Amino acid sequence: MTQSPLADEIRKEAEQRRTFAIISHPDAGKTTITEKLLLMGKAIDVAGSVKSRKADRHATSDWMAMEKQRGISITTSVMQFPYRGRMINLLDTPGHEDFSEDTYRTLTAVDSALMVIDGGKGVEARTIALMEVCRLRDTPIVSFINKLDRDIRDPIELLDEIEAVLSIKAAPITWPIGCYKDFKGVYHLAQDRLYLYQAGLGSERSQAQCIDGLNSAEAREYLGDDWATFAEQLELVQGACHLFDQEAFLAGRLTPVFFGTALGNFGVDQVLDCLADAAPAPLPRQTQTREVAPDETAFSGFVFKIQANMDPRHRDRIAFLRICSGRYQKGMKLHHVRLGKEVKIADALTFFSSEREQLDEAFPGDIIGLHNHGSIQIGDSFSEGERLSFTGIPHFAPELFRRVRLKDPLKSKQLRQGLQELAEEGQAQVFFPQRNNDIILGAVGVLQFDVVASRLKEEYRVECAFEAVNLWSARWINCKDAKKLKEFTDKASENLALDGGDHLTYLAPTRVNLALMQERWPDIEFRATREHH
Ligand code: G4P
Repeated sequence: MTQSPLADEIRKEAEQRRTFAIISHPDAGKTTITEKLLLMGKAIDVAGSVKSRKADRHATSDWMAMEKQRGISITTSVMQFPYRGRMINLLDTPGHEDFSEDTYRTLTAVDSALMVIDGGKGVEARTIALMEVCRLRDTPIVSFINKLDRDIRDPIELLDEIEAVLSIKAAPITWPIGCYKDFKGVYHLAQDRLYLYQAGLGSERSQAQCIDGLNSAEAREYLGDDWATFAEQLELVQGACHLFDQEAFLAGRLTPVFFGTALGNFGVDQVLDCLADAAPAPLPRQTQTREVAPDETAFSGFVFKIQANMDPRHRDRIAFLRICSGRYQKGMKLHHVRLGKEVKIADALTFFSSEREQLDEAFPGDIIGLHNHGSIQIGDSFSEGERLSFTGIPHFAPELFRRVRLKDPLKSKQLRQGLQELAEEGQAQVFFPQRNNDIILGAVGVLQFDVVASRLKEEYRVECAFEAVNLWSARWINCKDAKKLKEFTDKASENLALDGGDHLTYLAPTRVNLALMQERWPDIEFRATREHH
């Protein structure tokens, strides 16, 4: 079969794309490593002190602060840069106080993820939660154990912890030679090569010096008295650890592990090389009707995030769309599939982060930002020609709950409408308990509540307050057996609610309560995610 030049171009562009996000616990070093990745991708020229940026952190998002400080064009959510013949799309996963459901959903738009672990702390709570989201799509994970310039835990213990806590095999690609004041570098197991650490080069785009062969006279001299101990340890590691296996990596069952220091910009290049070489290019994606291959010439994509603008002077919001097939061109006409409408996409944002002139084109794996005046929701699909609705962009069970208290009781209709619409947009989730007239708001990050309150006030003229409520999590209920379901809804009505989309939900007061209910009702499915449409 002969292919058109357009099909060839799309295939070539798609194969170059590497779209990933960073998963980590706050303070593990995500911001620092992002900065070094941008440095390597020449998206910035000098990596500055992370500290000065952090001071600004609460005023605005990390990247806006960075943008201001460096006077370069980095948007808050997507950073695109070329690296060794690849085009890298790094999607920001908001952390700290701006952590939200968007953080989770961003992971549905990537093809791989970089897990950053603080070597002194090991696997922490937020990483576990984000990893669970990655597992929904078996996303391949590359791991970086950070802060080797400090005291870290025993590396073997760290790998064991990754395997035990995250249920993924860990294959060390490099192995650290000492840590803290004795940090000498890393040894690349497959290359049989030492990469030497030099302190003080954190803000430079420099390549580490190397020594070939652990048995070489040069390596023995470099390691001195530590040589024998290190060689012994390595033997143990090579005997006990998994070898890298590309197939298992792509299936999300094995993670290659690197060691280094983001602050010292050491080991980060190895991680980026791994993402460029071993991580997958955009893969086919499932729609309600069929699987869509990235090299199809007709454009298609889905919205995974809507950025609420906290600045009241700009009411415009941006919907982030992940391209799954075809080519985006300025001015193209697309179907807004849910609304059954044709729309002209005249002014989408693209995210090339270097000085180079921006092309108004984008390809599979890329993200474009659509201006949203209220007609776009999370999970919406846009396509050219055939109408395709992508699946797999879920709601996630909230972990934080508030009871909504209306200040003016006469505004209850506006409140309901506002909450319903904001929930559809994905800003937070709303639940209507069956046993009373409460309205419960659910979120995964606290900032989501502030966003909802300020938007209710701005856009719906409704003022409300939030009260603490004693809930632990929510689960969407599913049961094929109508009789069993009826039995369950009768018995559990105290804790049942309808969500914004009228789906039956179980609001669990505690973890123990949920576990007991699941045990007691084996025919009922308690789902932690729900598809959008
Ligand atoms: P995050 O985005 O994951 O939250 O982490 P971030 O990069 O902001 O890093 C958190 C702190 O850890 C920062 O310290 C940063 O400089 C430090 N850090 C990151 N990578 C390394 C590393 O390889 N070695 C060492 N020693 N430190 C590293 P900070 O600005 O002082 O912030 P804080 O500690 O006052 O919160």
